[in-house]
Amino acid sequence: MKIAIIGTGYVGLTTGTCLAEFGHEVVCIDNDLEKLEKLKAGQSPIFEPGLEDLIKKNMAGGRLTFSAEIGSAVKESEIIFICVNTPPKADGHADLKYVEGVARQIAQAINGDYKVIVDKSTVPVKTAEKVRETILRYSVSEAKFDVISNPEFLREGTAVKDTMEPDRVVIGSNSQRATDKMLEAYKPLIDKTKVPVKIVSVRSAELIKHGANTFLATKISFANLIAETCEQAGADALEVLEAIGLDDRIGRQFLKPGIGFGGSCFPKDIAAYKKTLEILGIDNSLVEAVERINKRSAERFLQKIEKELWVLDGKIIGVLGLAFKSDTDDIRNAPALKIIESLKKEGAKIKAYDPQAMANTKKILTDIEYLENPYQAAEKAEALIICTEWDEFKNLDLNKIKELMTTPTIFDGRNIFDPAKAKELGFKYFGVGR
Ligand code: NAD
Ligand code: UGA
Repeated sequence: MKIAIIGTGYVGLTTGTCLAEFGHEVVCIDNDLEKLEKLKAGQSPIFEPGLEDLIKKNMAGGRLTFSAEIGSAVKESEIIFICVNTPPKADGHADLKYVEGVARQIAQAINGDYKVIVDKSTVPVKTAEKVRETILRYSVSEAKFDVISNPEFLREGTAVKDTMEPDRVVIGSNSQRATDKMLEAYKPLIDKTKVPVKIVSVRSAELIKHGANTFLATKISFANLIAETCEQAGADALEVLEAIGLDDRIGRQFLKPGIGFGGSCFPKDIAAYKKTLEILGIDNSLVEAVERINKRSAERFLQKIEKELWVLDGKIIGVLGLAFKSDTDDIRNAPALKIIESLKKEGAKIKAYDPQAMANTKKILTDIEYLENPYQAAEKAEALIICTEWDEFKNLDLNKIKELMTTPTIFDGRNIFDPAKAKELGFKYFGVGR
């Protein structure tokens, strides 16, 4: 099948590459020319395990191309995936200007052939109806098309695996013709993995996405609430949460307490869902509490640092981890950056290290020191803080770290070390909820 992807970011690039791997002929469109140059040279503009190899393989196989030309891609493709960004507006609602812009461009290019327009970007309920109206309003010739919703559930850091082995495929469609086309596109995946396919209404699909992200964020905030309780009551949050999660009805995943969730999606998607509830006249205090606890998680971590180190002015603090989670170079809403900003305001000198995210961080934080490895970041530091759970940090030689530091103190925002072991080695150790 001929497929166009519009918006070649984390979602568009991974989806397009995997659809090419399934055997389809895919063209990925973007208006960022620098990004396109890299892609045309076979380089991935993002760090995502396994992605670059897959891009190269499918380019070499002639199934994957990159272009800025939206018009011909729309004309030649049977399915057009919209994968552009949907950032938050000042009031928290999703800013749909990029989705609308693409809908208008599709309208200009659409010809007499039937097209399935797929909204894969995360959007509020009823957006597909607006996309449809927009295409009708701006189309220049008779347009035969359906707009459907196919939400994406991949995580950064495991995007390829999540796309090749998803938990479910959701197709929100009110048209049998469009559903059949989507089932044809996903047939190689369905045959190979026997993945459950949920065919639902368009509005349900849109709500499934906001619902899933809000539920996952709620689990994390619940874990952080338990962590706070454990710190006050003298219990261990990891013991408590592990035992809670062993109940199959609850599950163990997404119950890790820490410095709060970040990234380009949870913060914006729960804000958008909160706004949707407000618009629909529904009490949104549950979502508000999730946001409040998340904010407090980073603040409480900072308070621990300030309480222990007292005056921060002039003190050297090593920061391990800048990315919002491990296995990515994405720093959008990374808790580490907010923590660094607060420490800098108090006059602390920051020495930072991250295995992948330093190049992106250098573009926005110029007045901190970037080091080549974790040991250099620990040198002469009065405290070492862990902001991202990279495997590389879990296997550090803590004896060596201790020798390098001025005062061996660890603030472990991701609970990667065993508190008893760290104390035994002579560190002052502060985890989350322990
Ligand atoms: P991104 O910012 O990485 O990529 C979006 C791309 O769209 C950019 O490359 C941008 O240049 C391009 N673009 C914007 N307007 C365009 C236009 N008119 N024509 C051509 N290209 C255009 O965003 P992302 O992280 O891939 O997220 C995309 C959507 O998918 C969002 O709605 C997001 O919420 C959702 N989502 C993201 C993830 C994730 O892990 N990142 C997972 C699931 C869903
Ligand atoms: C999340 C969802 O997991 C995906 O299913 C979804 O498709 C995506 O958002 C999206 O809509 O964009 P992602 O943001 O890539 O994926 O990463 P997660 O693994 O969910 O982590 C998000 C944040 O929560 C990170 O800062 C992570 O450190 C934090 N987290 C996660 C915790 O603090 N505790 C946990 O137990 C799990």
